[in-house]
Amino acid sequence: MTPGARAAAAIEVLDQVAASRAPADEVLRSWGRAHRFAGSKDRRAIAELAFAGVRARALAGWRFGGDDGRACLLQALGEAGRAACFTGEAHAPAPLTDAERAALARPDADAPDWARAGVPAWKAPLLEASFGADWAEEAAALSQGRAPIDLRVNLRRAALTSAQAALAAADLASGATPLSATGLRLTARLAPDLHKLQAFRAGWFEVQDEGSQLMAWLAGAEPGMTVVDYCAGGGGKTLALWQAMGAKGSGRLIAFDVDPRRLDAIRPRLERSGAQATLRAIGADGQGTQDLEGRADLVLVDAPCSASGTWRRRPEAIWRTTPESLQRLTALQSALLDRASRLVRPGGRLAYVTCSVFAAENLAAADAFVAAHADFRPRSIADAAGTSPLITPQGRDRLAELARGGHSVQLSPRRTDTDGFFAALFERSPA
Ligand SMILES: C[S@@+](CC[C@H](N)C(=O)[O-])C[C@H]1O[C@@H](n2cnc3c(N)ncnc32)[C@H](O)[C@@H]1O
Repeated sequence: MTPGARAAAAIEVLDQVAASRAPADEVLRSWGRAHRFAGSKDRRAIAELAFAGVRARALAGWRFGGDDGRACLLQALGEAGRAACFTGEAHAPAPLTDAERAALARPDADAPDWARAGVPAWKAPLLEASFGADWAEEAAALSQGRAPIDLRVNLRRAALTSAQAALAAADLASGATPLSATGLRLTARLAPDLHKLQAFRAGWFEVQDEGSQLMAWLAGAEPGMTVVDYCAGGGGKTLALWQAMGAKGSGRLIAFDVDPRRLDAIRPRLERSGAQATLRAIGADGQGTQDLEGRADLVLVDAPCSASGTWRRRPEAIWRTTPESLQRLTALQSALLDRASRLVRPGGRLAYVTCSVFAAENLAAADAFVAAHADFRPRSIADAAGTSPLITPQGRDRLAELARGGHSVQLSPRRTDTDGFFAALFERSPA
């Protein structure tokens, strides 16, 4: 395909992504299936153009007064790229109009903060509520950054150095993550097919962002505990909780979710890792959890959220949360926290986690919870980090610094080079 034809394809994909709820990766895959003539190099180039276009959407909207695929790609490409692609020849997009040329003459510096930060205008106050004066830099790191590929090494199966050597033998260079003591960060930014590696099949590691690992370590699962993972989803944190619980056969791990298909996805992961957990599909209102009321030593609520902390991985999601969907999520989050808290035994722990950077889903939910539950008190992040053998000394210091003596912490690509996870910790008063 010519550069122009690839650009035209990227514009088509960008318009499909804007109209769809599916992840951009999936839209790209289905475009590839419908256009078999595009070779793997073409598909890779189209994917790069499309992702650059998604990341340019806010500035495109400001500059052109509209953010369709053409506007996004015009914004994303430099002058040379535009000249090479927008030729009007054969399958290439039409040449630039005079109005487009005039719009492109305006410097990015004229754009409002929200556009330069890569987010829709209505999200700026949400981000400011979380990050204060730094919000635009934080948002830009989320919307424009590229996420690394992190692995959590299953120390119950292999030492960090053994996992690193197994990766190196497959030409995959990695380094230890600075904050989680169980993490390896791949040097390559393109996802290799890890599933084919013998070390993966033997359960030596799982793909898991360092921030997600830290959330599990902060929750504070220990050997011998009865631990409930209330929103287990695909099981990323379930497996980490099991790792924190230490020696085989020690304690009890129960994974809930409303979606039985998600729970099914955990089974092969448990098997690979040698982990044991009871999987249980529960009702949306907590039906099926009554037998654990007041019995759990630790309940983790990894709540459904806007996933705004993962925008580096899915920049199209920046445009998908609406004020209405956010309102629905915050109502669900407080209901879930309330239901899950009933399972905590007197003196037991409760951890609330999201992968969001919006204060409305995070601190506001945590504050409302403590205000409405006199039998729960905040548990210090610095204490939780300080007692976890799975957090590095640097990680303990950084978490304590970010928590500023409090019971909650907000991670972000800019602050911790992780996804934007949030945790708030509570403890139920002894009976
Ligand atoms: C953020 S995801 C969990 C991710 C998972 N813990 C992990 O680490 O991979 C949130 C999960 O909450 C589940 N969920 C939604 N409503 C729920 C409810 N009322 N009770 C329990 N789980 C619920 C969703 O099905 C989804 O799997």
